[in-house]
Amino acid sequence: MNSKLYIETYGCQMNFSDSEIVGAILEHNKCTLIKDVEQADIILINTCSIRENAENRIFHRLENLRHLKKKNPLLIIGVIGCMAERMKDDLIAKEPIVNIIAGPDSYRDLPKMIEMVKVSGQAVETLLSEEETYGEIMPVRIDSNGVSAFISIMRGCENYCSYCVVPYTRGKERSRDPETIVNEATYLFNHGYKEITLLGQNVNSYHWECADGKMINFSSLIALVAKVSPTLRVRFSTSHPKDFSDELIDTIASYDNICNFIHLPMQSGSTAVLKKMNRKYTREWYLDRINAIKTRIPDCGLSTDIIAGFCGETEEDHQQTLSMMKEVGYDSAFMFKYSERPGTLAQRHFPNDVPEDVKSRRLEEIIDLQQQSSLENNKKDVGKVFEVLVEGETKRSDKQLFGCNSQNKVIIFDRAEIKAGDYVNVKVVDCTAATLMGEIVS
Ligand code: SAH
Ligand code: SF4
Ligand code: F3S
Repeated sequence: MNSKLYIETYGCQMNFSDSEIVGAILEHNKCTLIKDVEQADIILINTCSIRENAENRIFHRLENLRHLKKKNPLLIIGVIGCMAERMKDDLIAKEPIVNIIAGPDSYRDLPKMIEMVKVSGQAVETLLSEEETYGEIMPVRIDSNGVSAFISIMRGCENYCSYCVVPYTRGKERSRDPETIVNEATYLFNHGYKEITLLGQNVNSYHWECADGKMINFSSLIALVAKVSPTLRVRFSTSHPKDFSDELIDTIASYDNICNFIHLPMQSGSTAVLKKMNRKYTREWYLDRINAIKTRIPDCGLSTDIIAGFCGETEEDHQQTLSMMKEVGYDSAFMFKYSERPGTLAQRHFPNDVPEDVKSRRLEEIIDLQQQSSLENNKKDVGKVFEVLVEGETKRSDKQLFGCNSQNKVIIFDRAEIKAGDYVNVKVVDCTAATLMGEIVS
Protein backbone atom coordinates (compact mmCIF):
# COMPACT_ATOMS: atom_id res chain seq x y z
CA MET A 1 0.00 0.00 0.00
CA ASN A 2 1.20 3.54 -0.77
CA SER A 3 2.29 5.72 2.16
CA LYS A 4 0.96 9.25 2.35
CA LEU A 5 3.92 11.64 2.39
CA TYR A 6 3.89 15.24 3.58
CA ILE A 7 6.99 17.42 3.06
CA GLU A 8 7.43 20.81 4.73
CA THR A 9 10.33 23.03 3.70
CA TYR A 10 12.27 25.81 5.43
CA GLY A 11 15.29 27.83 4.33
CA CYS A 12 16.58 28.80 0.94
CA GLN A 13 15.38 28.01 -2.59
CA MET A 14 17.90 25.21 -2.75
CA ASN A 15 16.04 23.48 0.04
CA PHE A 16 12.72 23.91 -1.80
CA SER A 17 14.37 22.44 -4.87
CA ASP A 18 15.73 19.53 -2.77
CA SER A 19 12.25 18.80 -1.42
CA GLU A 20 11.12 18.36 -5.02
CA ILE A 21 13.94 15.84 -5.53
CA VAL A 22 12.99 14.02 -2.31
CA GLY A 23 9.37 13.98 -3.51
CA ALA A 24 10.45 12.41 -6.81
CA ILE A 25 12.62 9.75 -5.10
CA LEU A 26 9.82 8.75 -2.73
CA GLU A 27 7.06 8.85 -5.34
CA HIS A 28 9.08 6.19 -7.15
CA ASN A 29 9.03 4.20 -3.93
CA LYS A 30 5.39 3.75 -3.03
CA CYS A 31 4.69 7.18 -1.60
CA THR A 32 2.02 9.69 -2.60
CA LEU A 33 2.55 13.36 -1.83
CA ILE A 34 -0.32 14.93 0.11
CA LYS A 35 -1.03 18.48 1.31
CA ASP A 36 -2.73 17.74 4.63
CA VAL A 37 -0.23 17.03 7.40
CA GLU A 38 -2.94 15.44 9.57
CA GLN A 39 -3.42 12.62 7.05
CA ALA A 40 0.26 11.76 6.62
CA ASP A 41 1.98 8.43 7.30
CA ILE A 42 5.38 10.06 6.81
CA ILE A 43 6.24 13.70 7.60
CA LEU A 44 9.56 15.08 6.39
CA ILE A 45 10.75 18.50 7.57
CA ASN A 46 13.45 19.93 5.30
CA THR A 47 15.43 22.21 7.57
CA CYS A 48 17.72 25.25 7.60
CA SER A 49 20.57 26.13 9.98
CA ILE A 50 21.60 29.51 8.58
CA ARG A 51 20.64 31.52 11.69
CA GLU A 52 19.75 30.48 15.23
CA ASN A 53 16.14 31.61 14.81
CA ALA A 54 15.79 29.38 11.72
CA GLU A 55 16.59 26.37 13.91
CA ASN A 56 14.35 27.58 16.74
CA ARG A 57 11.42 27.75 14.36
CA ILE A 58 11.95 24.12 13.45
CA PHE A 59 12.11 23.00 17.09
CA HIS A 60 8.77 24.73 17.62
CA ARG A 61 7.33 22.98 14.63
CA LEU A 62 8.50 19.60 15.92
CA GLU A 63 6.84 20.35 19.26
CA ASN A 64 3.62 21.09 17.40
CA LEU A 65 3.82 17.72 15.65
CA ARG A 66 3.95 15.75 18.91
CA HIS A 67 0.18 15.45 19.11
CA LEU A 68 0.07 13.71 15.72
CA LYS A 69 2.61 11.15 16.89
CA LYS A 70 0.49 10.54 20.01
CA LYS A 71 -2.57 9.95 17.85
CA ASN A 72 -0.68 7.67 15.48
CA PRO A 73 2.40 5.96 16.98
CA LEU A 74 3.22 4.48 13.54
CA LEU A 75 3.66 7.97 12.07
CA ILE A 76 7.22 8.42 10.76
CA ILE A 77 8.77 11.86 11.32
CA GLY A 78 11.99 12.73 9.53
CA VAL A 79 14.25 15.76 9.79
CA ILE A 80 16.22 16.23 6.59
CA GLY A 81 18.51 18.94 5.19
CA CYS A 82 20.97 21.33 6.79
CA MET A 83 19.90 21.04 10.42
CA ALA A 84 19.94 17.25 10.18
CA GLU A 85 23.49 17.51 8.86
CA ARG A 86 24.62 19.96 11.53
CA MET A 87 23.08 18.28 14.57
CA LYS A 88 23.08 14.62 13.53
CA ASP A 89 22.03 12.21 16.36
CA ASP A 90 21.86 15.10 18.87
CA LEU A 91 18.58 16.00 17.23
CA ILE A 92 16.99 12.72 18.28
CA ALA A 93 18.27 13.24 21.82
CA LYS A 94 16.65 16.68 21.84
CA GLU A 95 13.49 15.68 20.03
CA PRO A 96 12.63 11.97 20.55
CA ILE A 97 9.63 12.02 18.18
CA VAL A 98 12.12 12.13 15.28
CA ASN A 99 12.69 8.78 13.50
CA ILE A 100 14.80 9.81 10.54
CA ILE A 101 17.79 12.12 10.26
CA ALA A 102 18.97 12.51 6.66
CA GLY A 103 21.60 15.02 5.50
CA PRO A 104 21.41 16.73 2.08
CA ASP A 105 23.43 14.03 0.30
CA SER A 106 21.48 11.07 1.72
CA TYR A 107 18.16 11.49 -0.07
CA ARG A 108 18.56 8.51 -2.39
CA ASP A 109 18.62 6.33 0.73
CA LEU A 110 15.35 7.67 2.15
CA PRO A 111 13.27 4.69 0.88
CA LYS A 112 15.72 2.31 2.62
CA MET A 113 15.71 4.47 5.75
CA ILE A 114 11.91 4.40 5.91
CA GLU A 115 12.02 0.59 5.78
CA MET A 116 14.65 0.59 8.56
CA VAL A 117 12.43 2.76 10.76
CA LYS A 118 9.63 0.23 10.37
CA VAL A 119 11.97 -2.41 11.83
CA SER A 120 14.10 -0.56 14.37
CA GLY A 121 12.39 2.78 14.94
CA GLN A 122 15.25 4.95 13.75
CA ALA A 123 17.58 5.69 10.84
CA VAL A 124 20.37 8.26 10.67
CA GLU A 125 22.50 9.11 7.63
CA THR A 126 24.55 12.27 7.38
CA LEU A 127 27.56 11.35 5.25
CA LEU A 128 28.36 14.16 2.79
CA SER A 129 29.33 13.23 -0.74
CA GLU A 130 31.85 14.73 -3.17
CA GLU A 131 29.85 13.70 -6.24
CA GLU A 132 26.12 13.58 -5.54
CA THR A 133 24.16 16.08 -7.66
CA TYR A 134 20.88 14.12 -8.09
CA GLY A 135 21.58 15.08 -11.71
CA GLU A 136 19.33 12.65 -13.53
CA ILE A 137 16.38 12.89 -11.13
CA MET A 138 13.44 14.81 -12.58
CA PRO A 139 11.95 16.63 -9.55
CA VAL A 140 8.22 16.59 -8.84
CA ARG A 141 6.92 20.16 -8.65
CA ILE A 142 5.51 20.96 -5.20
CA ASP A 143 3.25 24.02 -4.75
CA SER A 144 4.12 25.13 -8.26
CA ASN A 145 2.29 27.95 -10.03
CA GLY A 146 2.99 26.11 -13.31
CA VAL A 147 4.82 29.20 -14.62
CA SER A 148 8.18 29.41 -12.87
CA ALA A 149 10.44 26.65 -11.59
CA PHE A 150 13.85 26.27 -9.99
CA ILE A 151 16.65 24.10 -11.30
CA SER A 152 19.55 23.24 -9.05
CA ILE A 153 22.79 23.41 -11.07
CA MET A 154 25.32 22.75 -8.35
CA ARG A 155 25.55 21.72 -4.71
CA GLY A 156 27.73 22.57 -1.73
CA CYS A 157 29.98 25.53 -1.07
CA GLU A 158 33.67 25.87 -0.29
CA ASN A 159 33.93 29.60 0.19
CA TYR A 160 33.97 29.39 3.97
CA CYS A 161 32.67 32.88 4.65
CA SER A 162 33.57 33.03 8.32
CA TYR A 163 29.99 33.53 9.58
CA CYS A 164 28.40 30.81 7.45
CA VAL A 165 27.33 27.27 8.27
CA VAL A 166 26.61 26.17 4.67
CA PRO A 167 30.05 24.67 3.84
CA TYR A 168 29.58 22.39 6.87
CA THR A 169 25.99 21.41 6.12
CA ARG A 170 26.25 21.05 2.34
CA GLY A 171 29.84 19.94 1.83
CA LYS A 172 32.10 20.23 -1.19
CA GLU A 173 31.10 22.27 -4.18
CA ARG A 174 30.11 20.17 -7.22
CA SER A 175 28.51 21.07 -10.53
CA ARG A 176 25.75 19.14 -12.26
CA ASP A 177 26.03 17.74 -15.79
CA PRO A 178 24.86 20.54 -18.16
CA GLU A 179 23.03 18.09 -20.40
CA THR A 180 20.69 17.13 -17.53
CA ILE A 181 20.16 20.83 -16.75
CA VAL A 182 19.21 21.70 -20.34
CA ASN A 183 17.00 18.58 -20.52
CA GLU A 184 15.16 19.65 -17.38
CA ALA A 185 14.70 23.20 -18.71
CA THR A 186 13.39 21.84 -22.02
CA TYR A 187 11.03 19.46 -20.26
CA LEU A 188 9.67 22.30 -18.12
CA PHE A 189 9.23 24.58 -21.13
CA ASN A 190 7.39 21.83 -23.01
CA HIS A 191 5.08 21.52 -20.00
CA GLY A 192 4.11 25.18 -20.02
CA TYR A 193 6.71 26.73 -17.72
CA LYS A 194 7.96 30.17 -18.82
CA GLU A 195 10.58 31.03 -16.22
CA ILE A 196 13.50 29.11 -14.82
CA THR A 197 15.85 30.09 -12.00
CA LEU A 198 19.23 28.36 -11.97
CA LEU A 199 20.24 27.73 -8.37
CA GLY A 200 23.48 27.34 -6.46
CA GLN A 201 25.28 28.93 -3.48
CA ASN A 202 27.74 30.51 -5.90
CA VAL A 203 26.56 29.97 -9.47
CA ASN A 204 29.50 31.87 -10.96
CA SER A 205 31.86 29.08 -10.00
CA TYR A 206 29.85 26.50 -11.97
CA HIS A 207 32.19 24.47 -14.17
CA TRP A 208 31.94 21.23 -16.12
CA GLU A 209 34.40 19.44 -18.33
CA CYS A 210 32.71 17.72 -21.28
CA ALA A 211 33.85 14.36 -22.66
CA ASP A 212 35.67 16.18 -25.49
CA GLY A 213 37.60 18.31 -22.98
CA LYS A 214 35.49 21.44 -23.61
CA MET A 215 34.89 23.48 -20.45
CA ILE A 216 31.45 24.88 -19.68
CA ASN A 217 31.40 27.77 -17.22
CA PHE A 218 28.35 29.59 -15.86
CA SER A 219 28.21 32.06 -18.76
CA SER A 220 28.12 29.22 -21.30
CA LEU A 221 25.58 27.28 -19.23
CA ILE A 222 23.15 30.19 -18.90
CA ALA A 223 23.43 30.81 -22.64
CA LEU A 224 22.62 27.11 -23.33
CA VAL A 225 19.50 27.37 -21.13
CA ALA A 226 18.49 30.69 -22.73
CA LYS A 227 18.60 28.99 -26.15
CA VAL A 228 15.89 26.50 -25.10
CA SER A 229 13.38 29.16 -26.24
CA PRO A 230 13.31 32.95 -26.55
CA THR A 231 10.02 32.90 -24.59
CA LEU A 232 11.59 31.11 -21.62
CA ARG A 233 12.84 33.61 -19.04
CA VAL A 234 16.06 32.65 -17.29
CA ARG A 235 17.15 33.87 -13.85
CA PHE A 236 19.88 32.74 -11.45
CA SER A 237 20.73 32.90 -7.77
CA THR A 238 23.13 33.41 -5.99
CA SER A 239 26.23 34.94 -7.46
CA HIS A 240 29.30 35.82 -5.44
CA PRO A 241 30.81 39.25 -6.13
CA LYS A 242 34.35 37.86 -6.15
CA ASP A 243 33.68 35.88 -9.37
CA PHE A 244 31.18 38.15 -11.12
CA SER A 245 32.91 38.35 -14.50
CA ASP A 246 32.58 40.77 -17.42
CA GLU A 247 31.87 37.70 -19.57
CA LEU A 248 28.77 36.93 -17.47
CA ILE A 249 27.60 40.57 -17.63
CA ASP A 250 27.98 40.48 -21.43
CA THR A 251 26.05 37.20 -21.66
CA ILE A 252 23.17 38.63 -19.62
CA ALA A 253 23.19 41.76 -21.80
CA SER A 254 23.16 39.83 -25.06
CA TYR A 255 20.14 37.54 -24.41
CA ASP A 256 16.73 39.23 -24.16
CA ASN A 257 15.34 36.30 -22.19
CA ILE A 258 18.07 36.31 -19.51
CA CYS A 259 16.41 38.61 -16.98
CA ASN A 260 17.94 41.96 -16.14
CA PHE A 261 18.10 41.26 -12.47
CA ILE A 262 21.10 40.44 -10.33
CA HIS A 263 21.16 39.44 -6.68
CA LEU A 264 24.68 40.31 -5.53
CA PRO A 265 25.10 39.88 -1.76
CA MET A 266 27.40 42.57 -0.38
CA GLN A 267 27.14 41.54 3.34
CA SER A 268 29.01 44.70 4.44
CA GLY A 269 30.25 47.98 2.94
CA SER A 270 33.43 47.97 5.00
CA THR A 271 36.56 46.38 3.55
CA ALA A 272 37.81 45.57 7.07
CA VAL A 273 34.61 43.66 7.89
CA LEU A 274 34.57 41.95 4.48
CA LYS A 275 38.11 40.72 5.17
CA LYS A 276 37.07 39.32 8.54
CA MET A 277 34.05 37.71 6.86
CA ASN A 278 36.48 36.03 4.41
CA ARG A 279 34.45 37.34 1.47
CA LYS A 280 37.60 37.77 -0.65
CA TYR A 281 36.64 41.16 -2.15
CA THR A 282 36.90 44.79 -1.08
CA ARG A 283 34.36 47.61 -1.09
CA GLU A 284 36.10 48.99 -4.22
CA TRP A 285 35.94 45.63 -6.03
CA TYR A 286 32.25 45.30 -5.25
CA LEU A 287 31.48 48.83 -6.48
CA ASP A 288 33.52 48.19 -9.62
CA ARG A 289 31.33 45.13 -10.38
CA ILE A 290 28.17 47.20 -9.79
CA ASN A 291 29.45 49.90 -12.13
CA ALA A 292 30.28 47.31 -14.79
CA ILE A 293 26.70 45.97 -14.48
CA LYS A 294 25.12 49.45 -14.62
CA THR A 295 27.18 50.37 -17.70
CA ARG A 296 26.41 47.21 -19.71
CA ILE A 297 22.82 46.65 -18.46
CA PRO A 298 21.46 50.13 -17.65
CA ASP A 299 17.99 48.97 -16.53
CA CYS A 300 19.26 46.08 -14.39
CA GLY A 301 17.37 45.35 -11.14
CA LEU A 302 19.72 44.89 -8.18
CA SER A 303 19.23 43.22 -4.82
CA THR A 304 21.55 42.19 -2.02
CA ASP A 305 22.04 40.51 1.36
CA ILE A 306 23.36 42.50 4.34
CA ILE A 307 24.49 41.34 7.79
CA ALA A 308 24.32 43.87 10.64
CA GLY A 309 26.56 43.61 13.69
CA PHE A 310 29.18 41.09 12.60
CA CYS A 311 32.04 40.48 15.07
CA GLY A 312 34.04 43.65 15.71
CA GLU A 313 31.83 45.83 13.46
CA THR A 314 32.38 49.48 14.48
CA GLU A 315 30.01 52.41 14.03
CA GLU A 316 32.26 53.56 11.17
CA ASP A 317 31.99 50.11 9.47
CA HIS A 318 28.21 50.33 9.80
CA GLN A 319 28.21 53.83 8.24
CA GLN A 320 30.16 52.37 5.32
CA THR A 321 27.43 49.79 4.80
CA LEU A 322 24.82 52.55 4.73
CA SER A 323 26.91 54.62 2.31
CA MET A 324 27.42 51.64 0.01
CA MET A 325 23.65 51.05 -0.01
CA LYS A 326 23.15 54.69 -1.03
CA GLU A 327 25.78 54.43 -3.71
CA VAL A 328 24.30 51.30 -5.29
CA GLY A 329 20.61 52.10 -4.75
CA TYR A 330 19.28 48.54 -4.45
CA ASP A 331 15.73 47.69 -5.48
CA SER A 332 15.43 45.23 -2.60
CA ALA A 333 17.50 43.52 0.07
CA PHE A 334 17.49 40.67 2.57
CA MET A 335 18.79 42.08 5.83
CA PHE A 336 19.85 40.11 8.90
CA LYS A 337 21.35 40.49 12.34
CA TYR A 338 24.53 38.48 12.70
CA SER A 339 23.80 35.14 14.34
CA GLU A 340 26.72 33.12 15.61
CA ARG A 341 26.75 29.56 14.25
CA PRO A 342 28.57 26.71 16.01
CA GLY A 343 31.66 25.43 14.25
CA THR A 344 32.11 28.36 11.86
CA LEU A 345 35.41 30.25 11.56
CA ALA A 346 33.87 33.33 13.20
CA GLN A 347 32.55 31.34 16.16
CA ARG A 348 35.96 29.78 16.69
CA HIS A 349 38.08 32.90 16.22
CA PHE A 350 36.15 36.14 16.84
CA PRO A 351 34.10 37.26 19.84
CA ASN A 352 30.45 37.97 18.98
CA ASP A 353 30.93 41.37 20.57
CA VAL A 354 28.36 43.75 19.09
CA PRO A 355 25.66 44.08 21.78
CA GLU A 356 22.19 42.88 20.82
CA ASP A 357 20.62 46.37 21.11
CA VAL A 358 23.32 47.84 18.83
CA LYS A 359 22.78 45.05 16.29
CA SER A 360 19.04 45.77 16.35
CA ARG A 361 19.50 49.52 15.92
CA ARG A 362 21.92 49.06 13.01
CA LEU A 363 19.59 46.57 11.35
CA GLU A 364 16.70 49.02 11.72
CA GLU A 365 18.75 51.78 10.08
CA ILE A 366 19.61 49.45 7.23
CA ILE A 367 15.96 48.43 6.78
CA ASP A 368 14.77 52.06 6.86
CA LEU A 369 17.30 53.08 4.24
CA GLN A 370 16.36 50.14 2.01
CA GLN A 371 12.70 51.04 2.33
CA GLN A 372 13.49 54.55 1.04
CA SER A 373 15.65 53.22 -1.77
CA SER A 374 12.99 50.71 -2.91
CA LEU A 375 10.33 53.43 -2.93
CA GLU A 376 12.55 55.89 -4.81
CA ASN A 377 13.43 53.29 -7.45
CA ASN A 378 9.79 52.23 -7.82
CA LYS A 379 8.73 55.86 -8.29
CA LYS A 380 11.18 56.10 -11.19
CA ASP A 381 9.28 53.22 -12.84
CA VAL A 382 5.95 55.10 -12.87
CA GLY A 383 5.09 55.88 -16.49
CA LYS A 384 7.28 53.09 -17.91
CA VAL A 385 5.93 50.06 -19.79
CA PHE A 386 7.23 46.59 -18.85
CA GLU A 387 6.72 43.13 -20.25
CA VAL A 388 5.16 41.12 -17.41
CA LEU A 389 4.98 37.35 -17.10
CA VAL A 390 1.56 36.68 -15.54
CA GLU A 391 1.71 34.41 -12.47
CA GLY A 392 -1.92 34.45 -11.30
CA GLU A 393 -4.51 36.21 -9.14
CA THR A 394 -3.35 38.32 -6.21
CA LYS A 395 -4.08 37.00 -2.72
CA ARG A 396 -6.37 39.95 -2.00
CA SER A 397 -8.64 39.90 -5.02
CA ASP A 398 -9.58 37.63 -7.90
CA LYS A 399 -10.19 40.79 -9.94
CA GLN A 400 -6.48 41.52 -10.01
CA LEU A 401 -3.59 39.66 -11.56
CA PHE A 402 0.10 39.91 -10.81
CA GLY A 403 3.38 39.01 -12.40
CA CYS A 404 7.01 40.15 -12.54
CA ASN A 405 8.98 42.22 -14.97
CA SER A 406 12.46 41.28 -16.10
CA GLN A 407 13.86 43.30 -13.15
CA ASN A 408 12.02 40.95 -10.77
CA LYS A 409 9.57 43.58 -9.54
CA VAL A 410 6.00 42.51 -8.80
CA ILE A 411 3.38 44.40 -10.83
CA ILE A 412 -0.36 44.24 -10.05
CA PHE A 413 -3.01 45.06 -12.66
CA ASP A 414 -6.72 44.57 -13.36
CA ARG A 415 -7.83 41.18 -14.65
CA ALA A 416 -8.20 40.75 -18.40
CA GLU A 417 -8.68 37.83 -20.81
CA ILE A 418 -5.23 36.46 -20.07
CA LYS A 419 -3.95 33.57 -18.02
CA ALA A 420 -0.95 32.56 -15.93
CA GLY A 421 2.04 32.04 -18.22
CA ASP A 422 1.04 34.77 -20.71
CA TYR A 423 3.23 37.79 -21.37
CA VAL A 424 1.53 41.24 -21.32
CA ASN A 425 2.76 44.81 -21.56
CA VAL A 426 1.86 46.81 -18.48
CA LYS A 427 2.27 50.54 -17.90
CA VAL A 428 3.11 51.43 -14.31
CA VAL A 429 0.72 54.04 -12.89
CA ASP A 430 1.43 53.93 -9.15
CA CYS A 431 3.65 52.23 -6.58
CA THR A 432 4.53 51.44 -2.98
CA ALA A 433 7.99 50.43 -1.72
CA ALA A 434 7.06 46.78 -2.32
CA THR A 435 4.87 46.77 -5.43
CA LEU A 436 4.16 48.46 -8.72
CA MET A 437 0.55 48.99 -9.86
CA GLY A 438 -0.16 49.15 -13.59
CA GLU A 439 -2.54 48.97 -16.53
CA ILE A 440 -2.36 46.64 -19.48
CA VAL A 441 -1.44 48.54 -22.63
CA SER A 442 -1.56 45.89 -25.34
N1 SAH B 1 25.60 31.78 -0.99
C1 SAH B 1 25.02 33.01 -0.80
C2 SAH B 1 24.23 33.18 0.48
C3 SAH B 1 23.62 32.06 1.19
S1 SAH B 1 22.99 32.32 2.78
C4 SAH B 1 26.10 34.06 -0.84
O1 SAH B 1 27.25 33.78 -0.64
O2 SAH B 1 25.78 35.20 -0.99
C5 SAH B 1 21.93 33.73 2.56
C6 SAH B 1 22.33 34.90 3.38
O3 SAH B 1 22.19 34.64 4.76
C7 SAH B 1 23.78 35.35 3.26
O4 SAH B 1 24.01 36.08 2.11
C8 SAH B 1 23.97 36.16 4.50
O5 SAH B 1 23.61 37.51 4.30
C9 SAH B 1 23.01 35.53 5.48
N2 SAH B 1 23.72 34.78 6.52
C10 SAH B 1 24.49 33.70 6.37
N3 SAH B 1 25.00 33.31 7.56
C11 SAH B 1 24.54 34.18 8.49
C12 SAH B 1 24.72 34.33 9.90
N4 SAH B 1 25.48 33.50 10.58
N5 SAH B 1 24.08 35.35 10.50
C13 SAH B 1 23.29 36.21 9.82
N6 SAH B 1 23.09 36.11 8.50
C14 SAH B 1 23.72 35.12 7.83
FE1 SF4 C 1 27.85 30.78 2.89
FE2 SF4 C 1 29.71 32.24 1.76
FE3 SF4 C 1 29.09 29.87 0.74
FE4 SF4 C 1 27.39 31.90 0.54
S1 SF4 C 1 29.40 31.78 -0.41
S2 SF4 C 1 26.93 29.81 1.13
S3 SF4 C 1 27.67 32.97 2.45
S4 SF4 C 1 30.05 30.24 2.71
FE1 F3S D 1 19.60 27.17 5.12
FE2 F3S D 1 20.95 25.15 4.22
FE3 F3S D 1 19.90 26.86 2.54
S1 F3S D 1 21.45 26.34 5.99
S2 F3S D 1 19.98 28.75 3.67
S3 F3S D 1 18.79 25.55 3.91
S4 F3S D 1 21.78 25.75 2.25
